[in-house]
Amino acid sequence: MKITNKINLITTAWIIFVLVVVNIAVFYSFLKVTVNVEEKVVLQNADAILEDINNGDSNEVIKEKLSKYLTNGSFIRIIDRQSKIINQVTNNKQFANKIKGKFVTKTTSNRYLVRMAQGEEQMLVVSIPIEFNGQVIETLEIGERLVGLELGKDVLLSILVACTILGALISLIGGKWLANILIRPVSNMIDTMEEIEKSGITKRMTIEGQPKDELQKMAVTFNRMMDRLDDNIDKQQQFISDASHELKTPITVIKSYADFLRRHGIQNEEVALDAVGVIHSEATRIQTMAEKFLDLANTESENSLEKTTIDLITLSKDIVKQLQRTYKREIILHHDEELITVIADELKLKQVIIILLDNAIKYSKDRIDIYLESRENDTIIRVKDYGIGISESEIDNIFERFYRVDKARSRETGGTGLGLAIAKNIMKQHDGEIKVKSKEGVGTEIELFLPHKN
Ligand SMILES: Nc1ncnc2c1ncn2[C@@H]1O[C@H](COP(=O)(O)OP(=O)(O)OP(=O)(O)O)[C@@H](O)[C@H]1O
Ligand SMILES: [Mg+2]
Repeated sequence: MKITNKINLITTAWIIFVLVVVNIAVFYSFLKVTVNVEEKVVLQNADAILEDINNGDSNEVIKEKLSKYLTNGSFIRIIDRQSKIINQVTNNKQFANKIKGKFVTKTTSNRYLVRMAQGEEQMLVVSIPIEFNGQVIETLEIGERLVGLELGKDVLLSILVACTILGALISLIGGKWLANILIRPVSNMIDTMEEIEKSGITKRMTIEGQPKDELQKMAVTFNRMMDRLDDNIDKQQQFISDASHELKTPITVIKSYADFLRRHGIQNEEVALDAVGVIHSEATRIQTMAEKFLDLANTESENSLEKTTIDLITLSKDIVKQLQRTYKREIILHHDEELITVIADELKLKQVIIILLDNAIKYSKDRIDIYLESRENDTIIRVKDYGIGISESEIDNIFERFYRVDKARSRETGGTGLGLAIAKNIMKQHDGEIKVKSKEGVGTEIELFLPHKN
């Protein structure tokens, strides 16, 4: 079922329900008010009657007096303590016979539904105790047809039913129109989405001139999503072109040395060995690069972590030992506490620390310091070197993929410009941060912030 029809049906059903409830309330209030008014009139009559009749009056005199108060279709009677009618005047005997007299000690008022030959009729019967010397001796009972109520009730009922039907019709027609107005922006969105699906080109929704409501918010979110998608596509394309560009150089070198070997054969063993050496080193470079591409792709998604509680000091000591053995460099670990634990993906955390140390080793010659510090909300890992440093204008770029400050030197050191991009991704995966402080010719300090709650 279309959403417009759904809205329409639901609102119409609701409006009918509201109308029915309100109409029932109106109808019963009308009944109550009408009966109350009639009751008041009857009680006033009763007061007049009680004033008029005297205790010593004969039955005939009383009858005569009561007759004056008869209205259309009513009865007035006096009932003794045994609930026996001792005097009665009426202009509708049928009514009077249908309702039994009853002796009461308190004023009461009852409504009866009397079945007559022409159908049912409403009757109001009010009983008032007659007192003599402080004692109730008889009851004055006045019965009256509720003519106004009968008439009014039917008219009111027809009006209310007609109003309910009219309300439902208006709601059905107006609801369709309203639902269409409300749903139009959604239909526009669906059209745009279908166009995107068909053409494969991202598009934006028009927001100008639209009221600031949830639908506009949805369109804004959609446009933002498209922007991100475009951004990601751009990044992906940029990555593919950068990666191809990076691969081109070593492949060209390999190809030209292989060509050389094919053309000249292995006449000069020394030259041939040289060529094989270059081919091997460039192939290794391609291999490292491919591994880094995979690392980058692997750290790009946000939820591929295997977090455990890690003893950071032991982990750092292991890394330092491993690197010292390989590079023969002085790396000093500083920490005040004896135990610092972090919750993180051990392999990835190790990878970040190695990326920072690898840079420090490549871009400095002096010793390297590592500081570990646990604070209230996070743990800081600081890697400090006293090397070439990074100029202020370059600092913002070093986290970009393939960015290298000095391309020639990086090539010498074997860098691909992906290390810090991977490190940044890993820190993002851990809801952490990575910050750089550096001065050209003085040194570089890179800080990792790992939040305790992640
Ligand atoms: N400690 C540092 N001292 C000086 N320059 C640095 C330091 N760390 C990074 N850089 C600069 O930032 C650039 C980017 O670093 P990144 O680690 O991303 O790439 P890379 O080291 O060149 O290559 P890769 O790490 O992929 O092997 C480096 O090329 C270098 O110019
Ligand atoms: Mg690096």
